[in-house]
Amino acid sequence: MIEDILSIKDLAREEIKKAKDSKTVQAVRVKFLGKKGILTGKLKSLSSIPNEHRPEYGRVLNEVKTEIEAILKKQEEFFKSAELQNSLKANRIDVTVPGYCIPCGHRHPTSRVLDEIVDVFLSLGFRIEEGPEVELDYYNFEALNMPKDHPARDMQDTFYINEDVVLRTHTSPVQVHVMKKNRPPLRVIAPGKVYRCDADVSHTPMFQQIEGFMVDSHITMSDLKGVLEVFIHQIFGPKTPVRFRPSFFPFTEPSAEIDIGCVICGGTGCRVCKNTGWIEILGAGMINPRVFEMVGYDPEAYTGFAFGMGIERITMLKYGIDDIRLFFENDKRFLEQF
Ligand code: DAH
Repeated sequence: MIEDILSIKDLAREEIKKAKDSKTVQAVRVKFLGKKGILTGKLKSLSSIPNEHRPEYGRVLNEVKTEIEAILKKQEEFFKSAELQNSLKANRIDVTVPGYCIPCGHRHPTSRVLDEIVDVFLSLGFRIEEGPEVELDYYNFEALNMPKDHPARDMQDTFYINEDVVLRTHTSPVQVHVMKKNRPPLRVIAPGKVYRCDADVSHTPMFQQIEGFMVDSHITMSDLKGVLEVFIHQIFGPKTPVRFRPSFFPFTEPSAEIDIGCVICGGTGCRVCKNTGWIEILGAGMINPRVFEMVGYDPEAYTGFAFGMGIERITMLKYGIDDIRLFFENDKRFLEQF
């Protein structure tokens, strides 16, 4: 019987020796020392051993059990540490490798120029207002002294939603919204998107404008001139020549178009300025008394000036860009230059 136990010991030893990883060692443990293990079975049947042999048998059994447990433990520890080393090696992270460079974008050129323009006017005490892009015909045209069927409407190719609703063709209707809601004195700029049914190298169906106006009791054309000169000199440089040319807009009287000395040729004449040496950059004028009447202001009590310009156009002139469509193509080779 004792031999039996000793041969179990040898068998267990043999199997532990042969084990190649901690999983197999674990299986050997279950086989010999588990609840239904071989050695456990022997311990359970101790009571059936005749009295005179029992102490000796029990002692040997316990010794064998302790011995097997010890070798199992040693082997388990050996494999666990080897397996840990292996996994550390396999999943090694080299903390000295330089990180990935995250490509960093920047603002669109028209957004940058818009910000620059807005900053100039904020520094002159103007505040920012916004209006809807889907606009009533009334605000876009009628209140700006362009009655239905008036030929002045031909200046703008309009997207009509229905007879009374349009995509605004300019930011000038914001003048009407603001004046209806506020009393003078007013110093306001209104940037935003506008829409016209037009497309070529210098026109896109959507583009951006910035409107500006100032209303008080003694505003004159020289205030308009002073403000616009500051603006032009800040954006295009302090030596840029500025000229006011008589023009017509239904919502201003008198009206003017403002030119700057050609930024491409410096005034000597080129393709961009059509050999005139001048480039038109915005429309302006003294707010027509008819508009004041429409918003409920007394035209005898107040005067004011207004102006409007295209952001894409200013950006094109500032950077010498000759095709407006480049702003909308999102070609990185173009955008990265700014
Ligand atoms: N709204 C005009 C346009 O889009 C531009 C303009 C001209 C605005 C004269 C004004 C102005 O405020 O006084 O063509």
